[in-house]
Amino acid sequence: MAELRAGLAPSDRAFLERARVLARHGWGQVHPNPLVGCVIEKDGAVVGEGFHARFGGPHAEILALEEALHRANGATAFVSLEPCDHHGKTPPCTEALLKAGVARVVFGASDPGAESGGGAERLRREGIEVVGPVWGEGEAVAENPAFHHTARASRPFVALKLALSLDGRIAAARGERSRVTGGEAEKEVHRLRSGFDAIMIGAATARVDDPQLTVRLAPEGRAAPRRLLLDPRATLPSDAALLRDAERSPVHVFTRLDAPEVDMERLEGAGAHVHPVPAAAEGLVLDAVLDVCWELGLRAILCEGGSRLATSLLREDLVQRLYLFLAPQAFGPSGVPAFGPGIAGAPWGAFAPAFPPELFGRDALLVFDRRTGA
Ligand SMILES: NC(=O)c1ccc[n+]([C@@H]2O[C@H](COP(=O)([O-])OP(=O)(O)OC[C@H]3O[C@@H](n4cnc5c(N)ncnc54)[C@H](OP(=O)(O)O)[C@@H]3O)[C@@H](O)[C@H]2O)c1
Repeated sequence: MAELRAGLAPSDRAFLERARVLARHGWGQVHPNPLVGCVIEKDGAVVGEGFHARFGGPHAEILALEEALHRANGATAFVSLEPCDHHGKTPPCTEALLKAGVARVVFGASDPGAESGGGAERLRREGIEVVGPVWGEGEAVAENPAFHHTARASRPFVALKLALSLDGRIAAARGERSRVTGGEAEKEVHRLRSGFDAIMIGAATARVDDPQLTVRLAPEGRAAPRRLLLDPRATLPSDAALLRDAERSPVHVFTRLDAPEVDMERLEGAGAHVHPVPAAAEGLVLDAVLDVCWELGLRAILCEGGSRLATSLLREDLVQRLYLFLAPQAFGPSGVPAFGPGIAGAPWGAFAPAFPPELFGRDALLVFDRRTGA
């Protein structure tokens, strides 16, 4: 794949890069559909641009072709994802590209969908020059990790987000709520939340931090993410911040099968959906929790800690992406380590950087993806 990219003219690479940037504008609005961007280029000039902006709405190619009008005839379409070739909520993009007379298609990532894939082959059969996939597997997955994961496995995509001090702690002391990162990083976390179906935390984090886990510091996504709490003994107080706004952003509390009946009823009465699942040494059987999530239609989950839940998820190889915010401060030996004992078996070596590090105020965000087949 490196050769394919190397063989592209610098201008081709720049147009494809523009398609990638456009695609990212759809964050929060299209999941579980993929982010897709498209640029139509004719004689070196951009004559149309588009991105998939709304779930169920027109695809990027269609919007770009609408802007390009007759100028699409003989043009090149640069698309971040292989054009789809099936009738879903909208007609196939392959047909729209053919009808518009596009001469060449350059795309970044293959479409892994059993139904939607095959667009490149169809266009080649129709005599269009097709270049792609230009991106390697890691680069392709990085743009749409949940879409690629759920095409392979009937299991929710799980991303783990933690805010760490430089000495690898997530709080100043156990049982203590601590500010780790600054305001810019916090805004980015809210933006990230808007692109997930649900936000998950462990019971101790709910007890100590009493978080709301809603999207407040960023534009709202297409649907408010649900809130998921792993609370084996059903201890969440009825006046917890998590239970606010439960009608708009439903709350699901996972408990042991033998959690006190009275507390399960209390939580139901406070607006939560309670799901009893089998217990494990550390709390709950995570596979059982994720099975329920899949049945609920949750395809992408952002886990926001704490360290015990993070450790269990990693050890059981259930994390596909890591969002690690690093803050330039230290909590010292009394701080809560980001990962607990028992993390040794986690597949650390399977993770590779997804993007270059990004700065949010004084904090750095590192994103790692678990490589397929690694
Ligand atoms: N900086 C950050 O990014 C960040 C993020 C979140 C939290 N925190 C901090 O982290 C601390 C809390 O973290 P923590 O490690 O003590 O606890 P935690 O991971 O938030 O919660 C652990 C609890 O979750 C329940 N649980 C259910 N199933 C589990 C499983 N399979 N594996 C692990 N836990 C499971 C258990 O509840 P029971 O105890 O009821 O059995 C377990 O004790 C707080 O100080 C909080 O402020 C920091």
